Amino acid sequence: MIKHLPPMGWNTWNTFAQNISEELILQSADAMVETGLKDEGYEYIVIDDCWALRERDKAGNLVPDPAKFPHGMKYVADYIHSKGLKFGMYSCCGTMTCARYPASYNHEFADAAAFAEWGVDFLKYDYCFKPNFADGKMLYRRMGLALANCGRDILFSGCSWGADKTHEWIGSTGANMWRSTGDIFDSWESVKSLIKQQYDILPFGGQGCFNDMDMLIVGMNGRGNVGLTGCSENEYKLHFAAWCLLESPLMIGCDIRSMTKETKAILTNRALIDIQQDPRCNRPYLFKFAGNDDFPIIVRALANGDIAVGFFNLSDSPANLWVVADDLGIPFLQGRTLVGAEVYTGAEKRAVNGTLSVDIEGHTCEVYRMTVKNSD
Ligand code: GLA
Repeated sequence: MIKHLPPMGWNTWNTFAQNISEELILQSADAMVETGLKDEGYEYIVIDDCWALRERDKAGNLVPDPAKFPHGMKYVADYIHSKGLKFGMYSCCGTMTCARYPASYNHEFADAAAFAEWGVDFLKYDYCFKPNFADGKMLYRRMGLALANCGRDILFSGCSWGADKTHEWIGSTGANMWRSTGDIFDSWESVKSLIKQQYDILPFGGQGCFNDMDMLIVGMNGRGNVGLTGCSENEYKLHFAAWCLLESPLMIGCDIRSMTKETKAILTNRALIDIQQDPRCNRPYLFKFAGNDDFPIIVRALANGDIAVGFFNLSDSPANLWVVADDLGIPFLQGRTLVGAEVYTGAEKRAVNGTLSVDIEGHTCEVYRMTVKNSD
């Protein structure tokens, strides 16, 4: 059965785009295991766009490009499965994929059957070249039904970038996750903008259909397909923490065969992954400190009664951010307080006079996992 927690894995697009091959996929599956990423919960190896020939065959089937995938997709799937991992592929609801390869419009049931035959466990489904007369939500419902009838458990990963009010209908399509925004790029501006675009749609994510903030750029350091300026280590830490607190799927986008120890430390931060994978799947909520978009304080109540509180300084200057524990449901006057630690540094933290307060540099976050205690 599909696990009803936000998916974790690796996807080819951010770094490799069209430069994909069987060798890359097999090596990345090896790296997923050897680096320990698998042990931390990363399980999907996803081939994004550009895997097919430019034309379907005479019978109307999608054909994996033999120059890139000489043994076909079943071979790749079998290898990935032999490593205890799961296999993801990509198509699109329009007439072509975003990179202009054949897509699944009017081929949904046949394509879903092919994916099932190949041993696919996850389908990312894009929104490019959707005919104007066609209703996007109907096309997504159609693929949802095609997958539900294909005879294999295939996780449906919608990728309509929030278009056509996706949040209103995506939960009806059978999708387990849905892209709420346009594409990420490897820059601070992109991370900041994607976080701010979540503020108004927090009620639409959560269990069963997670809001996907796009693949991670942690560790790209300015290289690869969406590599721009790159980010500082603090910015990558903030990016990863925001995705975890906001319950986004975690799809790694860097080259995991050669990631640095700093990159690995961020991607395997246990305290943050525990928050992202919290079994209760409570939705996050948000305070804008002093009403300012640059100072989101993101909170999630966790299954064991703890709460995660993330202070984010998206501005360029240091700031003092604070929140009153009463506003988090912790009644100071009933003799309750909060005690916990920061997820990256382990620094201890207590509510003082019923308030959690941090002094925090620009482009930096501090995330605390706090336990409810009786006050002294
Ligand atoms: C769109 C998606 C990206 C990626 C590309 C592939 O832009 O949003 O995530 O899949 O298509 O062409």
